Amino acid sequence: MSAPEVRLRPVTENDLVMFRRFATEPGLIGLDWAGFRDAQAPARRFATDGYLGVDDSRIIVEADGTAAGLMSWSARVAGVSRYWEMGIALLPDWRGRGIGWRAQAMLCDYLFTHTPVERIQAVTHAENIAEQRSLEKAGFRLEGVLRSVEFLAGQWRDGWMYSRLRSDPRPPNP
Ligand SMILES: CC(C)(COP(=O)(O)OP(=O)(O)OC[C@H]1O[C@@H](n2cnc3c(N)ncnc32)[C@H](O)[C@@H]1OP(=O)(O)O)[C@@H](O)C(=O)NCCC(=O)NCCS
Repeated sequence: MSAPEVRLRPVTENDLVMFRRFATEPGLIGLDWAGFRDAQAPARRFATDGYLGVDDSRIIVEADGTAAGLMSWSARVAGVSRYWEMGIALLPDWRGRGIGWRAQAMLCDYLFTHTPVERIQAVTHAENIAEQRSLEKAGFRLEGVLRSVEFLAGQWRDGWMYSRLRSDPRPPNP
């Protein structure tokens, strides 16, 4: 079976249902479930800037024309410099079909084209093999382990820090 056609596009009002689901359905997001979130926050944020902010944005991952999940990028600051941290969550039906790595490679292309950053980072966990493989296929490299950086599911967990630099090789045919 060939991989679905992947496209990134801005959030529309119809996508807010999916945002609310990720905020209120335990476990839908996967290993990163951190408890219930304000279900009205997505509508407020969408009304403010359509989820495209200067420091923090969300975008929809479409697969074969259907909203399959969302991605985020937010600014990190080091002295006078800025770089991005990105994240992704696909709905369960769309996982494991070659969408995640393609979408992450496409977002890198987008951010390196439209912003002058040199570095994009992404953090995952030891248990999240799918995200580790997906990041590696999208051209990211593991930098190291942030010890006990995040409280999730009753315990402090290590973060596996990945990055892709503008000068790193671009993966073939994302
Ligand atoms: C993590 C996630 C984005 C990965 O995207 P995906 O579309 O499922 O992954 P892909 O199909 O692009 O797979 C990329 C690679 O990972 C491998 N992979 C995918 N799912 C896997 C799994 N459950 N276990 C082991 N390997 C897996 C694939 O085989 C592929 O490698 P290959 O080409 O060498 O075979 C997606 O599963 C997801 O949204 N999960 C829930 C939310 C989440 O965990 N987000 C990341 C938070 S840090």
